[in-house]
Amino acid sequence: MTSQPTHDRLVTDRSLLATKAYGTGQHLAARQSLYRWQTPSHDLPGIVVDELADVRGVVADVGCGNGKFVARVRNDRPDLDVLPMDVSHGIIRALPGAVVADVQQLPVADGSLGAVLALHMLYHVEDQVRAAGELGRVLAPGGIAIVSTNSRTDKLELEHLWRQAAGDVLGVHEGPARVQLSARFTLEDAPAILGSVFGEIRTIPLPGVIEVTDAEPVVAHLASYEAWADEMGVPFRETIERARDRVNETIRTAGAFRVSCLGGMLVCR
Ligand SMILES: C[S@@+](CC[C@H](N)C(=O)[O-])C[C@H]1O[C@@H](n2cnc3c(N)ncnc32)[C@H](O)[C@@H]1O
Repeated sequence: MTSQPTHDRLVTDRSLLATKAYGTGQHLAARQSLYRWQTPSHDLPGIVVDELADVRGVVADVGCGNGKFVARVRNDRPDLDVLPMDVSHGIIRALPGAVVADVQQLPVADGSLGAVLALHMLYHVEDQVRAAGELGRVLAPGGIAIVSTNSRTDKLELEHLWRQAAGDVLGVHEGPARVQLSARFTLEDAPAILGSVFGEIRTIPLPGVIEVTDAEPVVAHLASYEAWADEMGVPFRETIERARDRVNETIRTAGAFRVSCLGGMLVCR
């Protein structure tokens, strides 16, 4: 990562998002799977379903990815009409009723939705204030937007691990930081951005600790950043292999490798 504008361009580059990053659900699934080792475990789709208790009509899931939330809402609330949307045609190919759409310009009439979801996706969006405006525009009176992201303190151990492994490869004390997705829209920054549109924002913090006794889930998580491999300033595969060794070393000496997490949901009216 050379400078902030370069980082922003990489994280928001729509052609990269729709192909290497989210052309399929493979990398997203690898990132999501690390949470299986988190304590306490948070049932994010279940929290969304609970927040939708008073909602009727159409619910759009914008940036729906592999449809994890779409499937759960459809299952638990068959009375709702769920509309999945994403900029990547590939990732929504198998999702019934899904359409290609950008959150900055939703193909939806003003005031027509009971709720809109924008989960772990606004950090990929160039103009977040405009996106927030779109989330507000499409809601019917009394409708809610549910947004999620991570804190700037989330999984810092993985950032540290990456820099140390990159340092090993480059023969320096600490190598360059990797691309940090949620840094563009952190849990701490989100209320101010969403507050440009919504009058009431309730944050649900979701803290936890991931503890693994096998390096593979961590390695899979690091490898899920492959879309940005050429931009990391260090050979990607070699760095992953060094990270694997370091995690194994920690597991041998400390019994486990631990990562502290802080994600959160913001319910906006
Ligand atoms: C990290 S994934 C999150 C997927 C899902 N919401 C979840 O929480 O599991 C981000 C998703 O947002 C999509 N995305 C990125 N920019 C977008 C935009 N401007 N409009 C709509 N979707 C976008 C990506 O293609 C990707 O599928």
